[in-house]
Amino acid sequence: MSDPERLTGKIRAALAPCSLGDWPTPLERAPALAMAAGVHALWLKREDRSAAPCGGNKVRGLEFLLAGARAGTVFVTVGATGSTHCLATAVHAARLSCAVALAQFPQPETDSSRAVAAACAAHAALVVRAQSPAGLPLAVLVAWRRARRLGPRRWIPGGGAHPRAVIGHLLATLELAGQLAEPPDAILAPLGTGGTVAGILLGVAALGWATRVVGVRVAPQLVANRWRTLWLAWRARSLLASRGIPLSFSPPRGLVVVDGLGEGYGHPTSRGESARRLAADHGLILDSTYGAKAFAVLLRRGTCDVQRVVFWHTFGVPASIGERTG
Ligand SMILES: Cc1ncc(COP(=O)(O)O)c(C=O)c1O
Repeated sequence: MSDPERLTGKIRAALAPCSLGDWPTPLERAPALAMAAGVHALWLKREDRSAAPCGGNKVRGLEFLLAGARAGTVFVTVGATGSTHCLATAVHAARLSCAVALAQFPQPETDSSRAVAAACAAHAALVVRAQSPAGLPLAVLVAWRRARRLGPRRWIPGGGAHPRAVIGHLLATLELAGQLAEPPDAILAPLGTGGTVAGILLGVAALGWATRVVGVRVAPQLVANRWRTLWLAWRARSLLASRGIPLSFSPPRGLVVVDGLGEGYGHPTSRGESARRLAADHGLILDSTYGAKAFAVLLRRGTCDVQRVVFWHTFGVPASIGERTG
């Protein structure tokens, strides 16, 4: 057994996540897309294929956030109307005989966000919609209060951005050790609430790789920023240390945050949409809010001067639930 496998086993034994996903997710080489993007080698980490009923990066964190919940627990969480975090939480909580109450704020509508919003309404026990992002705190309060009638409540922060969830993304990164012959120059991922990139950073440090982690900011700076991402990584590291699993970690050196937001969260950008079309021509289906904006950064020469790249493919809402490209 390799060291990363041993570390994964220790972490699973110490934190007892529940089982929602199919691991490891595949790592696929994409030579034609690499050529189109102008890099020497490109791999796709298929986090979109993490679970059959509803995949995507959020399943990694949910295994830790939903663990140990009694049947009937109501998870209260928050996100935009097209939030795949909200949808994944609702779908996977139901598999554990638990329910979900959502507080949501509007985002620009695309086919994809409309489909996810409809699926959220179908899968959640309660949805409280704010008229605007400013109304969100009140919507959260109302959702929290109403959820009391449905069962014992547990809070999950927006995007599932919690140190426990970060550990799920750390495990995803450890999978790369068995999937790549050599460390890549960079791992490129969308940066929303930060948990995914925080876990990748911890994983890269645990593997002893010099790989750069490029987080493409697709949400406002208040939510998606370097400080919060590093804070999540440090908190996850402390949690592991408290369970007797120390990790070496000097994250600031490895993290590069690049702005990909454009007009705002959920607003497609022209660069993102061209990247999305290029990826689609090669069979890679990206969403406008996260994947397309992140992939666009790979196409920007000079911003990200790397040759061997792993792209974190995070959007995994299947057709049965409503995937269409935004
Ligand atoms: C499809 C998708 N990709 C990427 C992200 C960003 O992940 P994080 O919030 O952990 O930064 C999200 C967050 O909701 C997401 O839904």
